[in-house]
Amino acid sequence: MTVRDTAHSDTERVRASVSLKERIESGSAVVGIIGLGYVGLPLASAMHRGGLRVLGFDVDQSKIDDLAAGRNYLMHLGSTLTAELSASDRFEATTDFSRLGEADAILVCVPTPLGLHHEPDLSFVLNSARAIGKTLRRGQLIVLESTTYPRTTRDEFLPAILEAAGDAGLALTCGRDFFVAYSPEREDPGRSSHSTSTIPKLVGGLDQASTDLAVALYRRAVECVVPVESAEIAEAAKLLENIFRAVNIAMVNEMKVILTEMDIDIWEVIRAASTKPFGFMPFYPGPGLGGHCIPIDPYYLTWKAKEVGRPTRFIELAGEVNTSMPAYVIERLTLALNRRAMAVRGSKVLVIGLAYKPDVGDTRESPSFEIIDRLRELGAEVGYHDPYLPRALPVRRHDLRLSSVPLTRETVSGYDAIVISTNHTSIDYRLLAEHARLVVDTRDAMREFRSDMGDRLVPA
Ligand SMILES: NC(=O)c1ccc[n+]([C@@H]2O[C@H](COP(=O)([O-])OP(=O)(O)OC[C@H]3O[C@@H](n4cnc5c(N)ncnc54)[C@H](O)[C@@H]3O)[C@@H](O)[C@H]2O)c1
Repeated sequence: MTVRDTAHSDTERVRASVSLKERIESGSAVVGIIGLGYVGLPLASAMHRGGLRVLGFDVDQSKIDDLAAGRNYLMHLGSTLTAELSASDRFEATTDFSRLGEADAILVCVPTPLGLHHEPDLSFVLNSARAIGKTLRRGQLIVLESTTYPRTTRDEFLPAILEAAGDAGLALTCGRDFFVAYSPEREDPGRSSHSTSTIPKLVGGLDQASTDLAVALYRRAVECVVPVESAEIAEAAKLLENIFRAVNIAMVNEMKVILTEMDIDIWEVIRAASTKPFGFMPFYPGPGLGGHCIPIDPYYLTWKAKEVGRPTRFIELAGEVNTSMPAYVIERLTLALNRRAMAVRGSKVLVIGLAYKPDVGDTRESPSFEIIDRLRELGAEVGYHDPYLPRALPVRRHDLRLSSVPLTRETVSGYDAIVISTNHTSIDYRLLAEHARLVVDTRDAMREFRSDMGDRLVPA
């Protein structure tokens, strides 16, 4: 490149980024959000509340129809959010990806699951990148939010955009004509103390101009935006956060098994340890890991680590401990039934909570499915109750074909045992305490009734 070419290129970059920055700051920028699920929908709402025009994209026509009609499809978000979006002339949702060119900034929030052999499945991310590439134009900012392994944005996402743009005859350069960054989503559905706009947002661009533009964009919607040195730092930080949780949950699950054997109450132990004002933070045991993140994301690093010939022993061990928890819950139930001269075979068992965590309807990787299927294999007759899930739709490895059983005095007393897998706050635990024959509690949901219940309550 000659000195004149370099100067020209710099001028182009400055022009493209200044004009986009002005549009963001003046509120005239249009934000496109690809993937309107647990992450994309609240993000769309936050950007909309930040005063920008939002164009949502999804491959799922039913979500687009719901949004147009103001129907809420994610119960934990409440109906105001969708009603507000559908009533606004600054929001529209579509399956027409040829409209991506209308957006000044595009935020990608599509799934990043695992394949059959625990390998990363980037197909959703790469499909989005190709769709973006087809209509790429000067002055666009593209941010990947989906959780993934380090270097995905630079080595997989950007090349897929460029290839599709090239096929469409568009010769554009990243960092000069358009801008690319990574910003991990830290959404925690169901947590009322934080929302998309109050959770600090990490932003790392493929270059400085991309970082600066992404920071300006998120500042419209998020209270605290934290620029980091590179996209790779932001990608790895997200994995560190999730691996930290997976490992600590595994450790506390292992402690639970040991202490329960010693007749020591793990929940009291955690409460006691939590009084230390430094060097400790509480994690809680449960029936196993669930959700789109903690059981899955660590394996993205495991896969990538093979490239540099390094093992990820903590991740593998945590995975081993956490996936053994459903079997432990069944062992506790089996022993409790045995003490009553009963077998699992032929027993009627009600599982409370199909979602993987309280107060949401998200069933992805939920251990409740594993528990139900295993109990059925052992010959139990199993029902479930979940106020968020009237029917059990198929998930990755399970198809229960069950509907939620109403929680009444008659149903509760009609089961030989009740397993509390997820402690939704709306469950009537007093009803369980008063009428259940046996409760196996994986969540410490029955603490206040402990003394009344005696050996009808079994911690697991
Ligand atoms: N759910 C969480 O709590 C959470 C938290 C932090 C990070 N994340 C990460 O965010 C990403 C998205 O997760 P989610 O929970 O929102 O998933 P989700 O399944 O709830 O939503 C994804 C949406 O993307 C749509 N989609 C799939 N392929 C598409 C395509 N090619 N184009 C347009 N739309 C497409 C789906 O129809 C769905 O509506 C994942 O990488 C996940 O790991 C999720």
